[in-house]
Amino acid sequence: MEARVSHNLEEVQWKDSYSVGVSEIDIQHMQLFSLANKVIKAMETNAEVKEVGLILDELFEYIEMHFSTEEAYTSVCNNFEEHKRAHVKFISSIQMLVQQYLSGDVNTLPSLLDFLISWLKDHIMGTDQKAFTWLRENNLLWCFLSLTWWVSPTRFFVKKNSAILLSSSYCIYFIYLSFLYFLRE
Ligand SMILES: [Fe+2]
Repeated sequence: MEARVSHNLEEVQWKDSYSVGVSEIDIQHMQLFSLANKVIKAMETNAEVKEVGLILDELFEYIEMHFSTEEAYTSVCNNFEEHKRAHVKFISSIQMLVQQYLSGDVNTLPSLLDFLISWLKDHIMGTDQKAFTWLRENNLLWCFLSLTWWVSPTRFFVKKNSAILLSSSYCIYFIYLSFLYFLRE
């Protein structure tokens, strides 16, 4: 079945004003925009529902990975619980719309994308920017940046759970090296 639907959606473009000031998060936000654009392109070429479903799976998986990265940074922020609740609510709304689309209601796709893009823009420029500004103002950003220095390279090669496992191993190895350093004399 083809995803032939009429829509007036335009591809979403990244703007510098969306930046939260942390390149790892900005790159993930850019990738979310680019996956949303991939779905818009698929709609324009009347791709099969199955094909669009695969892009939506990729998008969904990426959203989950992105939220866990962002939550690792912002867990010490004063509005963290509220921020996390917004992520959970968004995931369940997207999940519901994707299910609706995959069960045959192809006209759900434009509203799904419209909701996804406008939520992302509002969330980035509101809750996310506020959280990262708070971290910066409280001088807490540097310790997360040094932690993610270890975690990020592993994400290029492995999935989220393995990345956590590998980064924990790095930390244990680092503690072991520090221990040896103090015992050297
Ligand atoms: Fe967020």
